[in-house]
Amino acid sequence: MNRARFRDKAVLVTGGLGFIGSNLALRLLREGARVTVVDALVEGCGGNSYNLVEAVGAIRLIAADIGDSVAMAEALAGQQLIFNLAGEISHTNSVRFPERDLDLNARSHLRFLESCRRWAPQARIVYASSRQIYGTPQYLPVDERHPIQPSDFNGVHKFAAETYHRLFAAIHGLETVSLRLTNVYGPRQALHLPWQGFITTFVARALRGESLRVFGDGTQLRDMLYVDDAVEAFLRAALAPLPGRAHWLVCNVGGPRPLSLTEIARTIAGADVTHVPFPETSRLIDIGSYYADDRLLRSWTGWAPRVEFTEGIARTLAFYRDHAAIYLPQAADTADRLAARAHAVH
Ligand SMILES: NC(=O)c1ccc[n+]([C@@H]2O[C@H](COP(=O)([O-])OP(=O)(O)OC[C@H]3O[C@@H](n4cnc5c(N)ncnc54)[C@H](O)[C@@H]3O)[C@@H](O)[C@H]2O)c1
Repeated sequence: MNRARFRDKAVLVTGGLGFIGSNLALRLLREGARVTVVDALVEGCGGNSYNLVEAVGAIRLIAADIGDSVAMAEALAGQQLIFNLAGEISHTNSVRFPERDLDLNARSHLRFLESCRRWAPQARIVYASSRQIYGTPQYLPVDERHPIQPSDFNGVHKFAAETYHRLFAAIHGLETVSLRLTNVYGPRQALHLPWQGFITTFVARALRGESLRVFGDGTQLRDMLYVDDAVEAFLRAALAPLPGRAHWLVCNVGGPRPLSLTEIARTIAGADVTHVPFPETSRLIDIGSYYADDRLLRSWTGWAPRVEFTEGIARTLAFYRDHAAIYLPQAADTADRLAARAHAVH
């Protein structure tokens, strides 16, 4: 891809203090873009100011909710590309606090798209959708025609937001691309949050020298995607001409190959892996095996995942070893605060 195409481009990254958003913002900065980040550092999500510490002064940071139309008027003015990654990724939190998930993953995006329509109608929007919308796969690999049958509220609300992006294209003429991401891993993920998925738990336990516990028999498949490959998918989806006269497109984004959870755990921790029964809350929303058919994205943009899991996890562990004091604090405080707040709201 021609890197010069981002030079001096005005780009907005929502959720840019989070895991994928910060990696994307830093990459865009290296590519010469003028980067604005919007992030509300929502409690319980993976945002962390330290994620952008190396870019202080070089990236414009707006601390606001994407649903705040006044703040978005300022954030969106003059933007040429919009990467919309704000959101809550926790499936278990979506079951415990479904209205919170509705606010973060759907309602705020509807408001945000209204602001985009008003203040940046020419900017293409690339939205971070999720494989979670498919629910339990009926066949593998999962392509974009697979039925949508989410198994938790996160999947419902992510699909609502994806649909908002499609409708703002169809009805209001915005250009939108939704990337249905598989499981992403790598540097700058919130290891201290116990509800962000199995990969953060595995990495955090390995770094603490604790054995890894795999729920069930460990045969479930996942196509783990290294964050640099995810970032590359966003960059290509932002620039590739849309096919025909389309204003919107939806593409899966998968990893290099499917691996079982046991293989994933053993790659991280060697033999120090045990199998335990599924906790009831996790079993009820477990989707079994998933891996993506992402030929549409590959043929549209020329993208392909480059980083194999062994290489990606080595880079990931090295990053967290170097930054352990930042990324490995205690989780209990955050868990208690989120639960207390949710009780106060509902
Ligand atoms: N990490 C994955 O494996 C994965 C997989 C599929 C889809 N996704 C999607 O990619 C996106 C980024 O995921 P991530 O892993 O970087 O998550 P993350 O939790 O690390 O980052 C999300 C960021 O969004 C911010 N945010 C949330 N709601 C906001 C709002 N209304 N206004 C402003 N800021 C808000 C949070 O403060 C946080 O910094 C999410 O939309 C997620 O659903 C991630």
